[in-house]
Amino acid sequence: MQMITEEQIKAALSTVKYPGFSRDIVSFGLVKEISIGDAQVDLTIQVQTSDAKVPEQIYLGAQEALAQVNSEIAYRINMDVQAPAQSTGNTNTQAATGTKTGIPGVKSIIAVASGKGGVGKSTTTSNLAIALAKKGLKVGICDCDLYGPSIAHMFGAGDQQPSANAQDQIIPIKAHGITLMSMGFLLQHDSPVIVRGPLATRYIQQFLRQVEWGELDVLLLDLPPGTGDIQLTIVQTVALDGSVIVTTPQEIALIDARKAITMFSKVNVPIVGLIENMAYFICKQGERYQIFGKGGGEEEAKRLKIPFLGGIPIDPTTCEGGDFGTPISLLDPTKSAPSEAFHRAADGLIDVMAKQA
Ligand SMILES: Nc1ncnc2c1ncn2[C@@H]1O[C@H](COP(=O)(O)OP(=O)(O)OP(=O)(O)O)[C@@H](O)[C@H]1O
Ligand SMILES: [Mg+2]
Repeated sequence: MQMITEEQIKAALSTVKYPGFSRDIVSFGLVKEISIGDAQVDLTIQVQTSDAKVPEQIYLGAQEALAQVNSEIAYRINMDVQAPAQSTGNTNTQAATGTKTGIPGVKSIIAVASGKGGVGKSTTTSNLAIALAKKGLKVGICDCDLYGPSIAHMFGAGDQQPSANAQDQIIPIKAHGITLMSMGFLLQHDSPVIVRGPLATRYIQQFLRQVEWGELDVLLLDLPPGTGDIQLTIVQTVALDGSVIVTTPQEIALIDARKAITMFSKVNVPIVGLIENMAYFICKQGERYQIFGKGGGEEEAKRLKIPFLGGIPIDPTTCEGGDFGTPISLLDPTKSAPSEAFHRAADGLIDVMAKQA
């Protein structure tokens, strides 16, 4: 009689998280071979990383989890560690599972992420895109938030539907000079997205690979909140040139921002900037009130040695801009404080990217 079954092994290993992520090593498909002997189990775990700590942590976590099921068995875990493909300025290398590839014609791919939801990623993505475009860059946004897509609406393009070209690629929508793809273009108003795990991953791959993005200087990826499946798929398969982290000043948002930062650093994606949204409120008399606390984002950026791209005021015109499909950055930055803040963040981002290049 077997002292342990494959199901028990998988159940135990599914409690082991990939370091820095909320997803476990089984659901991510890292557990490759399991062979059960009389008093010994051999298994292979495959990881793609250049960080030696990642396989070590997975190994220790797996040993511990398995020992809890049956400690009389010897578990021989073979860690098959492969070096990740490096970001190569996004040449079109062959797409293959686990290999990071760029998008042909796209010079730079930047993810906009946060740990916590609702901190203003989509607002920041939209406004950064417009500010970057006003500086002469060709900019696109891929809305990777399948379940809560905001970009179509924030660009006032929610009723537009993309068509396909002769190669069956989706032709993205253009609004305010930005090339856009979002689940929001594919859905009827208010209908929920009912896709799970692998299908969601497929949609994301399609949004990135089967869209006629054309020539772009920057493609911004508006990520859903957190460090779940979609984020993991993206950081593992797309040659990201960097990531911008959005937070609000509260400690509760910063705690989650740190998790997102750790996630990117685990896969060697540089953090090209931290933006503190809703950093302060400017009253009619021009005085600034730091209603959510003081400079948490800037301090955090200093502590983690990542570029701080500035604070964005909390302002009803920013919210309305998103609601009415006209992002605030469209306004002359000399006449609108929030527009100025986003334009300044875009300048900072261009600086950081230039230095990086
Ligand atoms: N600086 C700001 N001033 C006023 N309102 C803002 C500001 N930033 C964001 N908002 C508003 O807050 C709400 C949430 O913003 P947004 O959708 O950009 O967040 P998000 O991080 O993308 O959320 P999710 O995690 O759900 O994707 C929106 O209504 C937006 O208009
Ligand atoms: Mg969003």
